[in-house]
Amino acid sequence: DDTIVLAELAKRMGIKANDMIIKLMGMGVMATVNQTIDYDTAELVATEFGFEVERAAFEEETILSTSVVDEDPSLRVTRSPVVTIMGHVDHGKTSLLDVIRKTSVTSGEAGGITQHIGAYHVETENGAIAFLDTPGHEAFTAMRSRGAKVTDIVILVVAADDGVMPQTVEALNHAKAAEVPIIVAVNKIDKPDADPDRVKRELSEHGVLAEDWGGDTMFVNVSAKSHVGIPELLEMVLLQAEVLELVANPDRLAIGHVVEAKLDIGRGPLATVLIQEGTVKAGQSVVCGMYHGKIRAMFNDKGEQVSEAGPSMPVEIIGLTGVPEAGDEMVAVKDEKDARQVSGHRLQKARARELAKNSRVTLDSLFERL
Ligand code: GTP
Ligand code: MG
Repeated sequence: DDTIVLAELAKRMGIKANDMIIKLMGMGVMATVNQTIDYDTAELVATEFGFEVERAAFEEETILSTSVVDEDPSLRVTRSPVVTIMGHVDHGKTSLLDVIRKTSVTSGEAGGITQHIGAYHVETENGAIAFLDTPGHEAFTAMRSRGAKVTDIVILVVAADDGVMPQTVEALNHAKAAEVPIIVAVNKIDKPDADPDRVKRELSEHGVLAEDWGGDTMFVNVSAKSHVGIPELLEMVLLQAEVLELVANPDRLAIGHVVEAKLDIGRGPLATVLIQEGTVKAGQSVVCGMYHGKIRAMFNDKGEQVSEAGPSMPVEIIGLTGVPEAGDEMVAVKDEKDARQVSGHRLQKARARELAKNSRVTLDSLFERL
């Protein structure tokens, strides 16, 4: 009845597929990476690796139903684009977003350096856009390395007076690897020593060619200081979004990803989650990374309490049993029992992995001493 692909089982146990194949061979079972093995074999081999097995491991998928591949396309409707603002330190990412939001985040930040990721929902005349501001590229990388495609478009901010810098190239490489379209915002165009052509030239050396230079990347000169080019930038984002034909089904159990999370002394674990599919509602049970919880309250990016959040909406949730990591998946489930079961199972797996790691360390140090 129950089967699992060998590679998937190995991944879930946090061990190399090859090690599992060898272990199976020792048990007289010949299997390849992509082969499915039955429950009994899986249980045996897992036990061999020191895991305690319960059937829930196989039920996680059915409980979570995170797969959207088979979903009826007619249920999927247009959603807003999710845009990540990236670029070298101090090139004006937060300032630009600030102008876009017409509020003042930069002035409220310690030393003007972004300490956390902000996730914002911005309504423009021609449509809504979700923005992610990044301090570095860690969260973006974390999400990407877990296979989460959270961002639809990257705005690469390059200061016109500074040109392409190391983190500009880094951001560019992340965007390229994630296969996300890039819009270049040449910022600080108000500065007397601003040289936008230099930015174009330097980026062309990294394979990014502006449209007026015969390429296909949109460039726009902007200034967060004098507010030049902001409507044009937003226009480009919405244009690009149209090309991408972004859709999601708002009428299903929600799936989202943690953008940032922290422990609040008064309110407990807080997680900012960007919703990708479905609609999350206050009072619902969710699994979030290794933790779970019943959503006690939700807040939008303006700090206002909301009762639900749909696709492309960032929302801060309260009620989790622990602080998840940036990049963790959040999935709404049917009830608290399901949530507890999945989370309990994941915690147990994490502990088993930790134990396995520690025992290996002990063994190694033992050999060292011999
Ligand atoms: P990190 O979050 O630290 O990576 O920086 P950031 O890219 O978010 O830059 P931030 O918005 O904090 O701006 C850095 C400095 O550049 C601040 O002093 C801003 O006032 C200034 N600045 C940003 N945009 C402009 C602009 O268009 N023109 C001028 N003249 N200064 C700008
Ligand atoms: Mg910033």
